[in-house]
Amino acid sequence: MDNVYDKIIQLGLMLSSEMKLDNLFKKIVETSREIANSEGGSLYIKRKNVLDFIISQNEVLEKKFNLKGEVLFKPYPIALSKENIAGYAALTGEIVNIKDAYKIPKDKPYRFLDSFDKKFEYKTRSILAIPLKDREGTILGILQLINGRNKSGQVVHYDKGTVSLIQTLASFAAISLKNAILAKDLKDSNLSTIYRLVKASEYKDPDTAHHIERMSNYSKIISKYMGFDEEFQDLMLYASPMHDIGKIGVPDRILTKPGPLTVEERKVMNKHTIMGSDILKNPDNPIIEMARTIALTHHERWDGEGYPKKLKGEEIPIEGRICAIADVFDALSVKRVYKKEWPMQEVLTYIERERGKQFCPYTVDGFFKGLEEILEIKAKYKE
Ligand code: C2E
Ligand code: SIN
Ligand code: SIN
Ligand code: FE
Repeated sequence: MDNVYDKIIQLGLMLSSEMKLDNLFKKIVETSREIANSEGGSLYIKRKNVLDFIISQNEVLEKKFNLKGEVLFKPYPIALSKENIAGYAALTGEIVNIKDAYKIPKDKPYRFLDSFDKKFEYKTRSILAIPLKDREGTILGILQLINGRNKSGQVVHYDKGTVSLIQTLASFAAISLKNAILAKDLKDSNLSTIYRLVKASEYKDPDTAHHIERMSNYSKIISKYMGFDEEFQDLMLYASPMHDIGKIGVPDRILTKPGPLTVEERKVMNKHTIMGSDILKNPDNPIIEMARTIALTHHERWDGEGYPKKLKGEEIPIEGRICAIADVFDALSVKRVYKKEWPMQEVLTYIERERGKQFCPYTVDGFFKGLEEILEIKAKYKE
């Protein structure tokens, strides 16, 4: 049994340092399956009126379908209702421990949902559903194990000792889950705030409904495929939406002019880079610091023919080089007041042709490696 407590303690330590939700989910299910010697395990997170089925692992199905990962299907919501097992546990806070899924006594309010078994030609027998409660007793979700086996490999009813071990594990898990959910909500709301404020500053500009979200996600994807770590990718996601904030200082008559700009108007327009970096001066955190650099350098060109400073090659900060592609890809692939939308093939040909001229070659490579994801974002945030 020492071994089991070691595992729980190890998990506890890992959970207190591991803040990424996906990894948390995975480790919670993995460890509890090991401890309870279970074929399968899943995790549901409670939302307002549904339980989101987040992750499912099942070693039998993994073998059968030759799967490497633990996710057998995309997460989907199930009803938060006493009529199904996870729903019952989530609404009452009770542990549900079932010997045979197909022989649940008639007097129980819940039934076994056999869609999973049917779909995968699987046979669920024993089930253990344990609520994940935080310190205040609020139920965050359900940890569910299926087909626990004894030492000789037979599927058995979960015994008291196992139930209490999993309960201990679930209370560790709940606390770290709560922290991770709070951290994620905070990040999401920060990003939403950035998008809203930037949109407010562009309120009079008819062209840019989802320009900000697309451009921000493109920047993240390019940096990911260039090999930058997640921290940098997130900085790109948060900082790049502010790249054109200086346009707030460009007169509307120029900004929304349907046709080409005169030389004088061009000069004024180009100042949006300097004005942006003024607005973002004295940065007090890494996001604003990066946003400032981006605002100033996203129109520099690799060949030194850009503005405002005519920086060349690696003199241009990498974040500016990444945003340059994200910005131009978006400007070309949708319509603007002053130009039509280009066919996708022409946009791609343009970017390829400007590799090493307008654009940094490494960044162009990252762009093409990430193209599939980039096109998904484009489809998601259509005008
Ligand atoms: P934007 O509309 O967001 O465009 C960003 C960048 O996308 C442009 O930076 C340019 O590098 C690229 N781009 C956009 N349209 C075209 C195009 O038709 N052909 C090519 N080759 N590249 C294109 P740029 O040129 O420094 O312009 C910065 C901003 O100045 C633009 O942001 C837009 O707000 C404004 N602007 C540029 N040209 C015109 C124009 O002819 N009329 C008006 N009203 N505004 C313009
Ligand atoms: C917003 O509501 O402005 C943000 C939308 C988003 O996060 O995609
Ligand atoms: C933007 O790039 O956010 C605005 C583009 C425009 O003004 O046309
Ligand atoms: Fe710009």
